[in-house]
Amino acid sequence: MERLVNKRILLGMTGGIAAYKSAELVRQLQEAGAEVQVVMTAAAQEFITPLTMQALSGHRVHTDLLDTQAEAAMGHIELARWADLILIAPASANFMARLAHGHGNDLLTTLCLATGAPIAIAPAMNQQMWADSGTQKNLLILQEKGITVFGPGSGDQACGENGPGRMLEPEEIARLAAEIFDYELLTGLHVVVTAGPSREAIDPVRYITNKSSGKMGFALAEAAAEAGARVTLVAGPVNLPTPARVNRIDVVRAQEMYERAVEVVEEGCDIFIATAAVADYRPAVTADHKIKKSTEEIHITLIKNPDIVAAVAEHPKRPFAVGFAAETQNVMEHARGKLENKKLDMIATNDVSGENVGFSSDNNSLTVIWPGGHKVLPLASKRQIAKQLIELIGIRYKH
Ligand code: PMT
Repeated sequence: MERLVNKRILLGMTGGIAAYKSAELVRQLQEAGAEVQVVMTAAAQEFITPLTMQALSGHRVHTDLLDTQAEAAMGHIELARWADLILIAPASANFMARLAHGHGNDLLTTLCLATGAPIAIAPAMNQQMWADSGTQKNLLILQEKGITVFGPGSGDQACGENGPGRMLEPEEIARLAAEIFDYELLTGLHVVVTAGPSREAIDPVRYITNKSSGKMGFALAEAAAEAGARVTLVAGPVNLPTPARVNRIDVVRAQEMYERAVEVVEEGCDIFIATAAVADYRPAVTADHKIKKSTEEIHITLIKNPDIVAAVAEHPKRPFAVGFAAETQNVMEHARGKLENKKLDMIATNDVSGENVGFSSDNNSLTVIWPGGHKVLPLASKRQIAKQLIELIGIRYKH
């Protein structure tokens, strides 16, 4: 079931008494970590209301192909592209016939024509309808098209008959849906990434910060999600959109970043990647009002901030801990020192004395060090570097 983490499932519902089981199916899929949007045919709405499915899925239910309002929010082509899987449960005999023969006469069939995602159906119908030669021919056509068929089960039917045609139970459908997806490098793992700068207030309008844009950390969060992980991104004040399938927690001060990071580690985290450029010191006192210009000199006393990645590496629920080192001289020596002092499993060091790597740049180059080895990731875009680093982390984690 962990293969469903971050997956986007478009649940299509057609007319049938088994539609009530789809409500439970939404819950099962969500509990396994998937995001679910629901599309209902007109017949499905006779059995269960779109409002119920909206409340359960947390998304507006899609019902019409020609609804201008719905198209303005997310057009049917966008919806077809959004899905990692289109799962139709229940799939009626009528729907199977329309799908087999390439009809696009309602939203659900159109989505099936327009998608590049895999399609799976969970048939549900009276046993005579299932046994009918037309339905069986349609079943073969659908299988030839590469559509996966879950079930149907056999047993007592709502119409009082007994035989094959019952929709499988929601737990079974969710389990089979998970099997459609491959295991990826970080499937089943929770990855936490810190990113961006911290901002330490001197007074209500002034603060101490640094040049970190958050680009490196956000690229790592995106790459980890693409590698199948559940990702939490603890972000300092940056101006970047949240990567898809990433849970973002915004913070400002180092102390806040420390508290949120420790909370997520306590909840359970497998890999912690500290990309943030955290202020080592903060003003001992933050003035309540803007400091007025008066004397020739003013003195601000700075006190030490907690070291987030070192605290995580010492936590009883210690995850695999990866630090970063931004250095301007003796790069390898300083980075090795941080690897040891902070008790890390790995450190990625960047020489930030140059213009086109490190802080704010779109590119980076890293030397990744771990006890007994190192690897150079030559200059490339931060997104490419992030993919390479995530692969290295995944391999070292499983080592
Ligand atoms: O954000 P970008 O513009 O994309 O730039 C990326 C980057 C240059 C910020 C990034 O690649 C990087 O090098 N991040 C670490 C920057 C840094 O502050 O390094 P450091 O040598 O001061 O800290 C060493 C490690 O300890 C880091 O993992 C840091 O997150 C962590 N740390 C530091 C201080 C502190 N109080 N708590 C920490 O967790």
